[in-house]
Amino acid sequence: MNQQDSQAAIKNKNIQQVTILGQGVMGVDIALTFAIAGYDVTAVDLFETQLVKAAKRAEANCMQMVAGGLLDKEQAQSALQRINRSMDWDAAISKADFIMEVIPEDMAQKKALFTRCDKLCAPEVIIASNTSSMSITRIAEQMKYPQRAITAHWTIPGHLSPLVELVSGVQTAKATEEKAMTLFQEMGKHPVICKDTPGFIHNILQGALIGAAMGLMDAEIATAEEIDNVVKNGFGLRLPSVGPIQFMDMVGLDSIANVGEYLAEAFDDPNYRSHQRIRDKVQQGDLGVKTGKGFFEYQHADSNKFWEKVNDGIIRTLKANKRN
Ligand SMILES: NC(=O)c1ccc[n+]([C@@H]2O[C@H](COP(=O)([O-])OP(=O)(O)OC[C@H]3O[C@@H](n4cnc5c(N)ncnc54)[C@H](O)[C@@H]3O)[C@@H](O)[C@H]2O)c1
Repeated sequence: MNQQDSQAAIKNKNIQQVTILGQGVMGVDIALTFAIAGYDVTAVDLFETQLVKAAKRAEANCMQMVAGGLLDKEQAQSALQRINRSMDWDAAISKADFIMEVIPEDMAQKKALFTRCDKLCAPEVIIASNTSSMSITRIAEQMKYPQRAITAHWTIPGHLSPLVELVSGVQTAKATEEKAMTLFQEMGKHPVICKDTPGFIHNILQGALIGAAMGLMDAEIATAEEIDNVVKNGFGLRLPSVGPIQFMDMVGLDSIANVGEYLAEAFDDPNYRSHQRIRDKVQQGDLGVKTGKGFFEYQHADSNKFWEKVNDGIIRTLKANKRN
C-alpha cells in the first residue's frame, strides 16, 4: 500500500503511526484492529518466534473476517500490509503517535515500560495500557508526563469485541481521555469510561460469575461442562440484547427478590438474599418494566416490546449457531 492510500484510510488526522508493545494473545488482535482502521502499525515483541506466530494469526483472523463478511479481500490485504513487526523497541516507541502496551500483567514490568516510553516519545503521545486489573495511577507513577497515560482495556477477542474500558489515573489529563474516547469511537469500538479501581467493570462482573461457577464445582453440584452448557444455552443467549440490570427490570424486581428470599432460607445463608438495592425498589413499588420504573425508566410500560427485542437477538444467534 502506498503512502497516499494509507493516509486516505486514516480517520484520526493526528495519529498515523500506532505502536503495539507485545504480540501475545491480545497484542496480535489489537494490532490488526488498528491496521484495519487505517493506521500504520508497528508491533513489537521480545521474541522472533512470537512475531512469526503473530503474523500467522493476524492473517487467519483477517481472512475469517472476510469469510464472515466483515471485511472485503482488498481491505484485509491492505490491513495486513500496514502491520510492520519488529524487535527494535526503542525505534518503534520513538516514532509512535499512539502507543498500546500489551505486555504481561505485571506491575513492575508495566511501570518500567511506561517510564521507558515516557523518555522516548514526545509528551503529547498517548500511552495506553491494556491492563486487565491494575491501577494506571500506579503504572504511571514514575513518568515525567503521567498526564498522557491511560488504560484502554480491550476484551478478548480484541479484533471482534467492541468493548474498550477507558480508565484515567489521578494525573491523566482530561484531554487524553477525550482523545482516546474519540479514537476508539472512530475505530468502531464501544469505549466505556471506568473508575481507576481494580478490575474495572468487565472483570469484576466476569469474576463474580467465575466465582459462582467454582462454588458449584466445589459443592459437586455441576461439572465444568454442565456449567458452560447452562450459561451458553441459558442467559448467555440473551446477554447480547440485555444486561443483568435491565434483565431484572424485565423479569420484575419482586420476582427477583422472592427468589433471593427462598434461596437464603433454603441454604440457610443470608448472602443469597437479594441485594438491599433490589429490596428498596420493591418497597417503593418500582418493580421494573411492569410498573414503568425499576433500575431504568420505561415510558411505555409494555414489556412485550422489550421481550420482542430480546427474542429477536436470540433468534439471530440460534440461526447462526444452526448454520455452524
Ligand atoms: N488474554 C486475555 O484475554 C486478556 C484480555 C484483556 C486484557 N489482557 C491483558 O493484556 C495484557 C497482555 O496479555 P496477553 O494475554 O496478551 O499476554 P501474553 O503473555 O499472551 O503476551 C504478552 C507478550 O508480551 C511480550 N513481552 C513484552 N514485553 C515483555 C516483558 N517485559 N516481559 C515478558 N513478556 C514481554 C511477550 O513475549 C508476549 O508475547 C495483560 O496486561 C493482560 O492482563 C489480556
